[in-house]
Amino acid sequence: MPRRFSNNSSKDPSSNSPSFSSPSGKGSLAIKASSVKSNRLSQFFSVSPKSSKTEPQPVQATPQPAGANPNTASPPISSASLSLPTISLSTATADNLNMDEMSTTLFQPPSAEEARRLAKQHAQFGVIGHASHRYSSRHPGGVFPEPVMDEPPYYYLLTTYISYLILIAFGHVRDFFGKRFREENYRHLKPRNGYGALNSDFDNFYVRRLKLRINDCFERPVTGVPGRMITLIDRGTNDHNHHFHFTGTTTDTLNLSSYNYLGFAQSEGPCADMVEDTIRKYGITAPSTRAEVGTQDLHQEVEGLVATFVGKEDSMVFSMGFGTNASIFPALVSKGCLIISDELNHASIRFGSRLSGASIAMFKHNDMKDLEVKLREAISQGQPRTHRPWKKILVVVEGLYSMEGSMCNLPGLVALKHRYKFHLFVDEAHSIGAIGPKGRGVCDYFSIDTAEVDVLMGTLTKSFGANGGYIAGDKVMIDKLRATNAGVFYGESPAPAILVQISSALRIINGEIVPGQGEERLQRLAFNSRYLRLGLKRLGFIVYGHDDSPIIPILLFNPAKMPAFSHEMLRRKISVVVVGYPATPLVSSRARLCVSAAHTKEDLDRVLAACDEIGNVLQLKFSTGIAGGALPHVEGMTPPPEMEKEWHRKRAATIIPPRWRLDDVLQRGVQDVKSPLF
Ligand SMILES: Cc1ncc(COP(=O)(O)O)c(C=O)c1O
Repeated sequence: MPRRFSNNSSKDPSSNSPSFSSPSGKGSLAIKASSVKSNRLSQFFSVSPKSSKTEPQPVQATPQPAGANPNTASPPISSASLSLPTISLSTATADNLNMDEMSTTLFQPPSAEEARRLAKQHAQFGVIGHASHRYSSRHPGGVFPEPVMDEPPYYYLLTTYISYLILIAFGHVRDFFGKRFREENYRHLKPRNGYGALNSDFDNFYVRRLKLRINDCFERPVTGVPGRMITLIDRGTNDHNHHFHFTGTTTDTLNLSSYNYLGFAQSEGPCADMVEDTIRKYGITAPSTRAEVGTQDLHQEVEGLVATFVGKEDSMVFSMGFGTNASIFPALVSKGCLIISDELNHASIRFGSRLSGASIAMFKHNDMKDLEVKLREAISQGQPRTHRPWKKILVVVEGLYSMEGSMCNLPGLVALKHRYKFHLFVDEAHSIGAIGPKGRGVCDYFSIDTAEVDVLMGTLTKSFGANGGYIAGDKVMIDKLRATNAGVFYGESPAPAILVQISSALRIINGEIVPGQGEERLQRLAFNSRYLRLGLKRLGFIVYGHDDSPIIPILLFNPAKMPAFSHEMLRRKISVVVVGYPATPLVSSRARLCVSAAHTKEDLDRVLAACDEIGNVLQLKFSTGIAGGALPHVEGMTPPPEMEKEWHRKRAATIIPPRWRLDDVLQRGVQDVKSPLF
């Protein structure tokens, strides 16, 4: 068991102070805090001579989160100014409260309507609890470590395989009898009148016999914006998930299931106001495709902003992220070219690559040695049969992998690029806005010049609270793509409201609008990501990915644990996404926690407490400690690169599996999160 720390001075100062964000997300605690304390607080603000000597207590008297550093430069994102305490102008003194006298007040508690507005605002974006809940995500330098993939005991893997075996065997037995005795239900799966069945049997089998059983965990209908909280529209089923009906109620849950990295999923605030103005001016849609009359001043403005933001000469925006990849690859490469793609690349990259007609090779996820082998082979052998040199070689990776939470090894890729002279394409769907001290993606994170990456692609669906995708690069390349890309000629043009959501979000991030707010969003996201990850590791969960990743996959392994975890979290009013085969390997089903800048530390503590309980009940705490969470190693944290293997081997032998108590995790989290997550 890890040592417990008794040092009280390390305690997060915010833990003693009133929280301004209610766990239910109603955001009404500010009002409660002021009303409960009003009598006592009024003494501090009394105009009597006695009270003038008394220093007001900042923690109670200000609407700022407790302990917040008054020198913090940036303005808070959500104003809580309406929770100011009542100031009494009566003659009551601190010692002698005159309870009978009517008090005269300067500040009124918020009206019911105002309280509702604040609650809604806080449900979309929580108020930061303490100035220390910020961090700047950047690579500390040195060798970029590969994330360590911890493994559960073998019996756990064995029972996982057995579970699938039972599910598949039962499924086949049911199908066997069903096809004979309930033919009407299986007609679409069988060849008929000489025509083959259109449904592929295995896909269909998987959906009917495995996924259907847990379908209530997927595609839950929601209403409102997917901010810090998300409102689920409750539903029930009477036929084992074949059909759902609405029960007429809704449930507010803490939202760990959206790619709302910077918390821009807000229905009010500067972005929403600008979007509203734009709809009044431009209407709701662009008139036609980009190539015809669908290019407006807004498109050009956004393309300029995106290019500057990512550090490239020019960019193009599209109305869909998937469509961006689907249409870009055929415009970039063709027959005689080679795409070398990371094996875990997104479906849109695979789709676009196949459409392009180029040859495709794959390398092991994030494995630079394997990539080098593939490159050497490709360059030395050339094209199949003719052995002519490849017209071009394009290496395609993602900035941040959404199933694994791992970042691409950009320094490694750039070193190989210099040696083997290939073109590099990075899909920053999940890393743009979410990674790097300025939120500018993996180049920003690794402090690498963007000129090293030939094509920067990204989506606007995640960090910016909008939708669509972009492609950025040198002007000559973008000019060519404008003339040859199918998306320009046949795809719909991004709508004005979407474009303004993108431009206002970009302007907030770069500090042009509401200076300081963008920085706060970036730093809160970076803190939240590390805080939750460290906490989960210390509790004993196997989590994948790099420390600064806002996507935190908790490994569940067993298929039955997917619905169990999802239901248990929902019972505690937390929404999470569970993912299994075919999106992950068969045995590594997982829950993906997506952290946002909109979350407060208290929200994450609530998630940790829930995971702690559920982890015990479902037996999910199998971490060996090799991936972190154990006590720091006495010999130091960073071995020299040539000693790394040996260091890990030695260290693994001495590591005690981390099983920290929740209280210790919460107590140590804030201070430890800023050092390497051992
Ligand atoms: C790496 C990657 N590229 C492209 C896309 C497609 O983006 P969109 O969902 O905006 O169409 C996604 C979607 O999640 C993605 O993860």
